[in-house]
Amino acid sequence: MKILITEKIAADSIDYLRLEGFEVDECLGLSQEEINGMISQYDGLIIRSSTRVDRKMLDEAVNLKVVGRAGNGIDNIDVTACTEKGIIAVNTPEANIMAAGELAVGLAFTIYRNICLANSAVHHDDFRRSRLIGRELEGKTAGVIGLGRIGSIVARKLKGIGMNVVAYDPYITAERFDKLGVKRCDRLEELLHQSDLITLHTPKTKETYNMLKTEQLAQCKQGVYIVNAARGGLVNEQDLYDALVSGQVAGAAVDVLDQEPNYDKKPGEQQYQHPLLSLPNCIITPHLGASTHEANTNVGTAVTELVARALKGELVCAVNMPAISGDLAELRPYIGLCEKLGAIYFQAETARLKKIEIIYSGELAGMDTNLLTLSVLKGFLSTITSERVSYVNVKQNLTAMGLEVVESKTTQLEKYTNLITVRFISSDKTLSVSGTVFGQDSEVLVDFFGYHMDFELSPYVLAMQNEDVPGIIGRVGTILGQKSINIATMHWSRKKDKMRAQSFLSIDSPVDEETIEALRKIEGVLRVSVLNFTMVS
Ligand code: NAD
Ligand code: MLT
Repeated sequence: MKILITEKIAADSIDYLRLEGFEVDECLGLSQEEINGMISQYDGLIIRSSTRVDRKMLDEAVNLKVVGRAGNGIDNIDVTACTEKGIIAVNTPEANIMAAGELAVGLAFTIYRNICLANSAVHHDDFRRSRLIGRELEGKTAGVIGLGRIGSIVARKLKGIGMNVVAYDPYITAERFDKLGVKRCDRLEELLHQSDLITLHTPKTKETYNMLKTEQLAQCKQGVYIVNAARGGLVNEQDLYDALVSGQVAGAAVDVLDQEPNYDKKPGEQQYQHPLLSLPNCIITPHLGASTHEANTNVGTAVTELVARALKGELVCAVNMPAISGDLAELRPYIGLCEKLGAIYFQAETARLKKIEIIYSGELAGMDTNLLTLSVLKGFLSTITSERVSYVNVKQNLTAMGLEVVESKTTQLEKYTNLITVRFISSDKTLSVSGTVFGQDSEVLVDFFGYHMDFELSPYVLAMQNEDVPGIIGRVGTILGQKSINIATMHWSRKKDKMRAQSFLSIDSPVDEETIEALRKIEGVLRVSVLNFTMVS
């Protein structure tokens, strides 16, 4: 499988992908059009913040299965379009937060003490330090907007240097503010009124874009300092320019810009212009927040592992998958079973369904089973569509089909520790299958459309319904033997009142149509279904 990397990541991580058997093309500095023109060849794409993964690109990306964002912000990825196309989008939210937090704190010191101006002056032979009198941070009030991962690091560090820290974040709990020892501002204005330094750490969303404009800047203390190492555009750049010129804002440091330059072009090739570049009281750094050796290693390792695992079909934590609370390790053994239970119906039946009900019994009832439900649905869809089905788009596909999905739970269970039952409901009947996992990996079917058994599922299963009379299995064995199809295990279940039996044969290879026809012709055989589980986990 082929992976395209369009922005710089640690070389060791690229080696890792190659060792894992992937063909990797690292093509830096490409234009968006060039990337769009070649993306159809690739199964995986690894980007940072400059490459735009928009609908236009995704329409070309016919083989793309995963987009790996080396870093945190996903504002350059159209996650909705990825989801519609079943493309997994992963990021590495934890890997560079220390780097970004430290840069924000560093920028605060830098603008408070005129460090950049001083450095530039001495390089131009100007050592007049009386022009560069700065201010101290200790005892001042810092206003942190967005108290998430990076905001919390920044708050902790600024407290450590003796600042009073207040924060505005309407989405986090009061306990979190208390834990960090940060005073909560219920409204943004409260923070603006009292802060000497404002540092922004929110994502870029419709709500946060331009959250500081002239109106908000005017509510700040005269001579406030502003640091934006989050996303360009959180502070309106023209309004910031005006406030820096008027002195309402004494100094600003921006690591991120609304329209960013190409970070791979050499001087002379770059034709970037921005009004803020002309102001001495504004420091601009080239989106350096994550650029430490430590963060590069962390981000590169994390993103390449995620992309490799996603391409191998493993379950990864993706931004376009519903959040799963609790321990994934406890659910993991059931994922394959759920996919197989979902995949049974349309391999054995034809009636159109209106509803699928999934019942979790036993210990599973106390867990977040969202992922298992997605697994059942993924298995179900994988048997009826040639479209790419992944955890990320399965719900959307089912909604489009008008199929209702309900989940229920009960802790009551006698024979097993856990049981998963999938009820396939059509307008005139309900058929159900149930399964459990023994040990860590033995996926066992315990009920198949009303027949009880303990049958360990394997990639190929022959499910036959026959009259409960002697001799049938012998004839089945003969036909399969003639076709060199090896039978690994067999199981029979009977419904005595109906004089019918259900036979399950685990076989080592697929069965062709001719063989199935021959089996169907055996006297007493009522039905033959081949359950192929190779397309699921
Ligand atoms: P996070 O998701 O952990 O935290 C963001 C916080 O913002 C959350 O607590 C959320 O509740 C809060 N928030 C959302 N909307 C808000 C609003 N309207 N008002 C106030 N608070 C709001 O994210 P993070 O990992 O801390 O990253 C913060 C920002 O830093 C992101 O924009 C990310 O892309 C950026 N970042 C930049 C660099 C860089 O190189 N400069 C590096 C890493 C991250
Ligand atoms: C991020 O969101 O992680 C940062 O902006 C860093 C980056 O993309 O380089």
